[in-house]
Amino acid sequence: MNIFIATLPCGFLGGENSPQLQQIYVLAVGFMSLFSDITNEQLVEMDAAAADQQTAGQLAAELQRRLEYHSYRYYVLDDPEISDAEYDALLRQLEALEARFPELVSPQSPTQRVGGQPLPGFETVTHRIPMLSLSNAHSFDELKEFDLRIKRALPDEQVTYVAEPKIDGLAVSVLYEDGAFVQGATRGNGQQGENITQNLRTVKSLPLRLRPGAPAVFEARGEAYMSREAFSRLNSGRSERGEQLFANPRNAAAGSLRQLDPKVTAHRDLDIFLYSLGYTEGVGVSSHWEALQLLRDLGLRVNPLVRQCAGITQVLEFCEEIGRLRPELPYDIDGVVVKVDSLAQQARLGFTAKSPRWAIAFKFPPEEATTVVRDITVQVGRTGALTPLAILEPVTVAGSTVSRATLHNEDIVRQKDIRIGDTVVIRKAGDVIPEVVKPVTAKRTGAEQVFTMPTVCPACGAEAYRAPGEAVTRCIGSQCPAQLLEGLSHFASRDAMDIEGMGPAIVTQLVEAGMIKSPADIYGLSLEQLVTLERMGQKSAENLLGAISRSKNAGLARVVFALGIRLVGAGAARDLADHFGSMDRVISASTQELTAVPAVGEKIAASVKEYFSEPQNLELVQRLKAAGVEMTQERTQEQVSLDNPLNGKTVVVTGTLETLSRKEAQELVRSLGGKVTSSVSKKTDYVVVGDNPGSKHDKAVELGITIWDEEEFLRQTGRGS
Ligand code: IVH
Repeated sequence: MNIFIATLPCGFLGGENSPQLQQIYVLAVGFMSLFSDITNEQLVEMDAAAADQQTAGQLAAELQRRLEYHSYRYYVLDDPEISDAEYDALLRQLEALEARFPELVSPQSPTQRVGGQPLPGFETVTHRIPMLSLSNAHSFDELKEFDLRIKRALPDEQVTYVAEPKIDGLAVSVLYEDGAFVQGATRGNGQQGENITQNLRTVKSLPLRLRPGAPAVFEARGEAYMSREAFSRLNSGRSERGEQLFANPRNAAAGSLRQLDPKVTAHRDLDIFLYSLGYTEGVGVSSHWEALQLLRDLGLRVNPLVRQCAGITQVLEFCEEIGRLRPELPYDIDGVVVKVDSLAQQARLGFTAKSPRWAIAFKFPPEEATTVVRDITVQVGRTGALTPLAILEPVTVAGSTVSRATLHNEDIVRQKDIRIGDTVVIRKAGDVIPEVVKPVTAKRTGAEQVFTMPTVCPACGAEAYRAPGEAVTRCIGSQCPAQLLEGLSHFASRDAMDIEGMGPAIVTQLVEAGMIKSPADIYGLSLEQLVTLERMGQKSAENLLGAISRSKNAGLARVVFALGIRLVGAGAARDLADHFGSMDRVISASTQELTAVPAVGEKIAASVKEYFSEPQNLELVQRLKAAGVEMTQERTQEQVSLDNPLNGKTVVVTGTLETLSRKEAQELVRSLGGKVTSSVSKKTDYVVVGDNPGSKHDKAVELGITIWDEEEFLRQTGRGS
């Protein structure tokens, strides 16, 4: 039998001690040995030989254990051992086996997350221990008063706190019996909630079975939520289909969990963090911190930012730190929850009628604000889409000034009933474009005007047409200057061909002077032409020509993106380039071949096909090629040397670098087979730090992630000395 040595960071919750001190080495022969006896090769052999029920049963159990273990590594430890594709392959293997031997299917099998019929309604669940809410503090002074109250009640006692981000989702209870997930419920009125077991089963970060050693009855409580990314994906799909939008991730999570058909919930991509114990039998913990550790040991997901604080000063520091991290977090939080750590002290402090005296919620200012819609204008995009845009009385939200917000399309304006002159609630979270949430109808005077979509394009006067079944109205004018300008600006933009000095103002001048009508014309521009433009001296004209010439080698991915094919963003363009290696192969690919590309679904594939079925688009590609624009991929992922230190690693670039822009640094990482992400987590391998790095640097230090300065980064990527 093999013996595994696993490193488990026991002080997983961060804190004041250095991460090194918190590492202890645990000899883990327990559950890991469960599948240490069976090698991958044997697993495959077993699969081939699984003709009889007994072998099949063993194999199914083994596959389940592996899948559970890898889910735990991924969701709880944030430290996966295998790729998503390998996980999916194991899941498919189990699915195939269960299809052959249906009697092997158990409710806890990882294949059984989405099951059951739509319910007629939710049953009521009575909480064995009521689910209370918390009292709030809105300032540091109020937090200090909370601390004083605690000190008065526990004179001369040392009080340690645990501080945790307050996730903005939906409180839920999850019950496990003999390790198996048997019941999930909403908080409801605190005494009774709704049985949402079927829906919680679809939440992939919630285990259907606890890890070995779970008490016979174990209830945990936590917050189910939707990440900001999942929320914006959900809403953009809904906006495209003309469906009603969710106002924020919290509402989206609540709406998803209250679906009677679990198949709908399964498509909603919810997550969960657990933050306390509920009714349990035979659990021996003496502090909340230990309870969090237990939750995590049992395979439940605990927020990695939670921290033990020696006193109120450290709590205030934590609140400040989390406030700074807030815009970058992948989920919404609305504050910090502060809890007395010792369970004995908690018991002595007790409860008021509504909430515990030993905990408080410190609330952050909302990421929402109210302002007035001065006007609703219509923007024409490069694909001719007419987008209504709210022009707002400028207002500060989540630290930045907002003066416009997209209204998506005509249906959404009507559904939300947003009128010119309305006072509205707007919301800005993270990098997401500000949204108008809803009008404050109580403030209406009657003078507000209802918006109507123009029937002609505001830029060129051509007909604006809305196809049946589509939510978007488009300008059908082939010579529309707005489309042309947007298309050309997009072509030259940083993420596309990256022609420095060719911003929207220069593009406008070039178009108005009749010098360019198509992106291909950019490569025919001469110095004599350029110097005739306003505020364009000899030197800047030369620089611009240099940038134009350099852009010919921008690479296939950028060219594909620059064409402005509907729905093809930078990510899909990169995947298309990596997959096909040349523009000609992208053009001739069938729909089936296109959908084989990771980021390409049916809709994108159809859009690519439609784009290249237009003779004028094919002509554009030919003209670009003739002008010397590189249309093949020089380095594919396969060609990247496997021994370069960035290959397969996850990297975050933050702060200002000296010799290259952040985008260039990110591209360098990708070109070496690395993955670039925007926020630092335990999955991050390296953080490249320039000047003024901000909170990502702090977080990297906190998580003990390797940090490279620019010099080191250049050295590691083979560019430095
Ligand atoms: S502790 C006895 N911890 O905030 C109260 N709550 O009013 C136990 N919440 O309904 C709650 N993150 O839904 C706690 N880390 C956290 C939390 C958290 C979010 C929510 C929870 C509760 C509300 C408090």
